[in-house]
Amino acid sequence: MPATLLTGIGLLSTQSSDGDLADAAVVIDGDRIAWVGARAAAPAADAVVDVEGRAVIPGFVDSHAHLVFAGDRGAEFAARMAGSPYTAGGIRSTVAATRAATDDTLRATVVRLTDELLRSGTTTWEIKSGYGLTTIDEARSLRIAREFTDETTYLGAHVVPVEYADDPAAYVALVTGEMLATCAPDARWIDVFCDRGAFDGDQARAILRAGVAAGLRPRVHANQLQEGPGVQVAVELGAASADHCTHLSVQDVDALADSDTVATLLPGAEFSTRSPYPDARRLLDAGATVAIATDCNPGTSFTTSMPLCIALAVREMRMTPAEALTAATLGGARALRRTDIGAIEVGTRADLVVLDAPDPVHLSYRPGVDLIHQVWRSGSCAKGSR
Ligand code: NIG
Ligand code: FE
Repeated sequence: MPATLLTGIGLLSTQSSDGDLADAAVVIDGDRIAWVGARAAAPAADAVVDVEGRAVIPGFVDSHAHLVFAGDRGAEFAARMAGSPYTAGGIRSTVAATRAATDDTLRATVVRLTDELLRSGTTTWEIKSGYGLTTIDEARSLRIAREFTDETTYLGAHVVPVEYADDPAAYVALVTGEMLATCAPDARWIDVFCDRGAFDGDQARAILRAGVAAGLRPRVHANQLQEGPGVQVAVELGAASADHCTHLSVQDVDALADSDTVATLLPGAEFSTRSPYPDARRLLDAGATVAIATDCNPGTSFTTSMPLCIALAVREMRMTPAEALTAATLGGARALRRTDIGAIEVGTRADLVVLDAPDPVHLSYRPGVDLIHQVWRSGSCAKGSR
């Protein structure tokens, strides 16, 4: 692939120690960033793309998404907006539809949603299983997810499926036994929904420990519906991330701040379940690392839009626009324990977004407007013309 000089960058948000650079340029060589600096000092390249004063940011890193599913829960959303509360039980309706779907139907949904992600500036996405909840259906969910990303997460412990309602211990045995053994080859991560109506702290510990023993790395759905043991379990087991963090005690905030477990906030879920938003300011001021992700799923957050999540985090979670951008790029990379993405510096993957705006503050200043002018993923222009 010939080297491309991306120049005329009005403001480059590197998310590296270089900070923000005005009047900048970047050289993309193959799938990597080869040079970053002042436009006037840029080296020659085979091709030149002038972005005419626009801002450039790293591609968004969506570290939390549930994309393998079938069915629609629009009616459940409408009922919620009319006053019904969200419960974990809604997951079971998606499980029934997912089990009944063909591989091609599931794959078509992932194609559509990853295409939406890319067009809205996301260049890395994690994909969870969790709507199959049988060995066969979890394994095929992960096989399909693997076609679209290396960041696959085994979430057999999403909820106890209806056929095990009277014997949750038997379901935990399945999740930590045969299902785990079958799923592990296609998964990098193991996740558990540790919350009211899903799994308790002891079950979550057992599930995550079994996953670690099978070579997977832990992450946790924690404290979405109420304060509980989720965050503490995540920190105790060295999880890369505790996700949701909607209801946090003082001890939870301190535990996150004192650990390298990232607090991943999912404002789309609070939006779509009409729940109180977590206070990101508390976490940031305490010193925790914060990520923002979409949580794209048919129940609680059916959005692929990181710009929407950034705008919500700024407006509702008390993040500054700069903090929210960092959380959606570098924060997501940290939540996936990746150092090759989330920042624009020599050697990182050439994942960049050219904004139709002079400054990334416009992502929250102009909510609901498509500002994604051009997307570069692994050095190729994936949206917009060159
Ligand atoms: O992250 N909280 C658990 N899982 C999803 C919701 C799943 C659903 O309702 O289908 C979430 O919000
Ligand atoms: Fe989730």
